[in-house]
Amino acid sequence: MSEVFETNIASLGTGGAGIGAHPDGRVAFVEGTAPGDRVSVRVDRAKKRFVNGTVVEVLSASPQRVHAPCPHVAEGCGGCDWQHLRTDAQSDLRVGIVRDALERIGRFEAVDAIDLAAAPPLEPFGYRTTVRAVVEQRGANRGRAGFRARRQHKAVVPETCLTAHPAVAELMASCRFEGAKEVTFRVGSRTGERMVVLDSPKARMSDGPRDLLVAGLDAPLFLHEEVAGHRFRISSGSFFQCRPDGADLLVELVDRALHPEGLDPSPDEILLDAYGGVGLFGATVARGARVIGVESSRSSSEDARVNLPDTAELHCQRFEQWQPEPVARAVADPARAGLGAEAAAVLVAAEPSSIALVSCDPGSFGRDARLLVDAGYSLDWVRTVDLFGSTSHIEVVSRFARR
Ligand SMILES: C[S@@+](CC[C@H](N)C(=O)[O-])C[C@H]1O[C@@H](n2cnc3c(N)ncnc32)[C@H](O)[C@@H]1O
Repeated sequence: MSEVFETNIASLGTGGAGIGAHPDGRVAFVEGTAPGDRVSVRVDRAKKRFVNGTVVEVLSASPQRVHAPCPHVAEGCGGCDWQHLRTDAQSDLRVGIVRDALERIGRFEAVDAIDLAAAPPLEPFGYRTTVRAVVEQRGANRGRAGFRARRQHKAVVPETCLTAHPAVAELMASCRFEGAKEVTFRVGSRTGERMVVLDSPKARMSDGPRDLLVAGLDAPLFLHEEVAGHRFRISSGSFFQCRPDGADLLVELVDRALHPEGLDPSPDEILLDAYGGVGLFGATVARGARVIGVESSRSSSEDARVNLPDTAELHCQRFEQWQPEPVARAVADPARAGLGAEAAAVLVAAEPSSIALVSCDPGSFGRDARLLVDAGYSLDWVRTVDLFGSTSHIEVVSRFARR
């Protein structure tokens, strides 16, 4: 029988789990808890310095705790891990996690001197225009799309999904798949275009609407979405932000980070758009500067060629291998692992006077912030973005200025 103990939850960690204490003093990470909860916990995994546990009972509930609004959470759906937290508390909790990452991981001593706050909140439900789903292989729901269950080898097929955009939720409910293990739904909510991407050339779809684009990994197609007044081509193999209103907000924040005085650059200045994807930032925040884009995915780079002005210089390669040249400003939006030492050195070698860093993981944000500050930049402004409401996912936009 696994050990059970009681603890108070003090705060939330970078992965979104509550942090309590095992009776022997080890840190205890407990998913599905809120700061202020007192819970009894079953130990799932015990390590030398910490334990991971599951809530057996909430003995005393935090004021930030609510009954999960989605019925599929009780079935174990792994799609959203923060449905038990009040939506109006989530923004502040994200700020607390980022502050903690700066202190513990980034080793910043004077975090209070940094202007760190939540960006204006986004709708917590009905937002996801891209959803990656698993296909149920057995039983009455065979062929339907769902989500992986938490810590179980099964799929939960939702009747409706609270976080999916209604157009995606409708496709998830109506489409049936054969021969696919995973499918990705993507809609252009501002253009009305809809797409599903199948994971195998043998896979087939039935019962979907007639205008639905069906792409395979070997048969790419594209749709369009509008962000910040620009129209973007997005191919089935390309990354795009999970919601256009969130992308609008990211554009606004990156623009503010790069041009805090609101002044336009001169046309001979260069904006580096590192990890540029289909050109979201290069197309929207350059303010007349010439864009150099660096992006490793061929699919995204081909889209960027269509989405960016002809004057943009695009390099389809890993940013770590880009040959740096002097630029006036830079935006860098790496994948979850962050820049790391190699890419941070390349970025610094381009000598931008300011850098807008877009991070999708608080831990890698803390590490990258330390690298940039040690390389001669100061961190003065940080905004957390509720891009993925009801989940512990945190997007961070920050501004670094050369000292
Ligand atoms: C978080 S996305 C951001 C894309 C874009 N800035 C946007 O907001 O739509 C990260 C992008 O980096 C690209 N990428 C991943 N690793 C890379 C690397 N080592 N060098 C360059 N690009 C990379 C991915 O293909 C993806 O398009």
